[in-house]
Amino acid sequence: MNTSFYDSCFQASLDALHAQKRYRTFKTLARDSQHYPQALWYSGLDTRPITVWCSNDYLGMSCHPAVVGALCETAQKIGVGAGGTRNISGTNRPLVMLEEALAKLHGTQSALVFTSGYVANETGIATLAQLLPNVMLFSDASNHRSMIEGIHRSGAEKVVFRHNDVDHLESLLAAVPKERPKIILFESVYSMGGDVGPIREICDLAERYNALTYLDEVHAVGLYGNRGAGYAEKLGIAHRIDIISGTLAKAFGCIGGYLASRASLLDAIRSYAPGFIFTTALPPPIAAAALASVTYLAEHGEGIRKIWWDRVATTKQKLSAADLPIYTSPTHVIPLIIGDPEMTQKASDLLLEKHALYAQPINYPTVPQGTERLRLTPTPLHTHGHIDQLTESLRSVWQKLALPLKIHASYAA
Ligand SMILES: Cc1ncc(COP(=O)(O)O)c(C=O)c1O
Repeated sequence: MNTSFYDSCFQASLDALHAQKRYRTFKTLARDSQHYPQALWYSGLDTRPITVWCSNDYLGMSCHPAVVGALCETAQKIGVGAGGTRNISGTNRPLVMLEEALAKLHGTQSALVFTSGYVANETGIATLAQLLPNVMLFSDASNHRSMIEGIHRSGAEKVVFRHNDVDHLESLLAAVPKERPKIILFESVYSMGGDVGPIREICDLAERYNALTYLDEVHAVGLYGNRGAGYAEKLGIAHRIDIISGTLAKAFGCIGGYLASRASLLDAIRSYAPGFIFTTALPPPIAAAALASVTYLAEHGEGIRKIWWDRVATTKQKLSAADLPIYTSPTHVIPLIIGDPEMTQKASDLLLEKHALYAQPINYPTVPQGTERLRLTPTPLHTHGHIDQLTESLRSVWQKLALPLKIHASYAA
């Protein structure tokens, strides 16, 4: 076979990414589980110790002794792989216990675990919409790709409302007959801007216009609320959400995603969702580790969250005082806006190579063009010394590259 035609297609697609300055390169890391956020960076033949500033392992739970211990013990006892789909021998005991713990965490009748948060959203939304005849979907403009894919795959009619704009959402809801089934899909903490959805107002609209609410709490579970059930718990309105989607891969430090909701709704998704049915179940050691993490953060998380919030607040305050252009979000996500893909890459490279600090550049299509940024996520394990080092290093990078010190607030969108 002549492969040159095929290869030229692939190469042309890569050339386009290079031309747009958005070809992605990955950094190879090995975290030091005893000294997180320290890690080794593998650069060619070289290894260098660095400090990670951009991880979604928000609380360092991936290295927590209770979590690592549960994983090792379970692997020794019942092996690594689940050995099958949920239907054919894969429904392992730790996984069922994890689902029970997640339902308890969210105060819902039931919870269903998927192999990732992406899969939970994609297959969950598509299936939900296919089970509701003539449903109309209302989607926030900044929703995550996994939600967009689920909406797309459902084939249902959809409208997109302007990000966090409840007036726009209401005008769209009002244009549809009240008896027509509707789902409003949105997020609590938006991961790239760190802003928060108008959860209460959307619940009010959902009641008024007879819609279901689907809330992605992926960047909030483990972190917000008294037991780490998310932003809706923090606001005391979790009971008003019909479907909560969460991940085990960020603050809980493992892998896997889930939906928490009413028993009948999740039983239907369990029975019809291809992304749930036709794939191997989550491995028992991972389920046990996630269970340990969810339980630990629900029962003993207050102390960790308090330190975490101190580090978040201190980082924001120090970066602001140094006149660095952060968007002051109400959450733990600190976007540092640069507004140009090439300069964002250069800033990230300089920070890593000269100062041994790692913050991955965030470019289009993850964020809109012109809003390219570094996205900083302090953990409870970042010390005040780490924060001072970050501030001084960023100041030096900003000076060296003559980067802008002011941002327009809309950049955070
Ligand atoms: C808002 C949102 N939802 C869902 C996901 C997917 O979660 P997971 O990483 O568990 O696949 C992400 C991932 O970054 C996300 O940002």
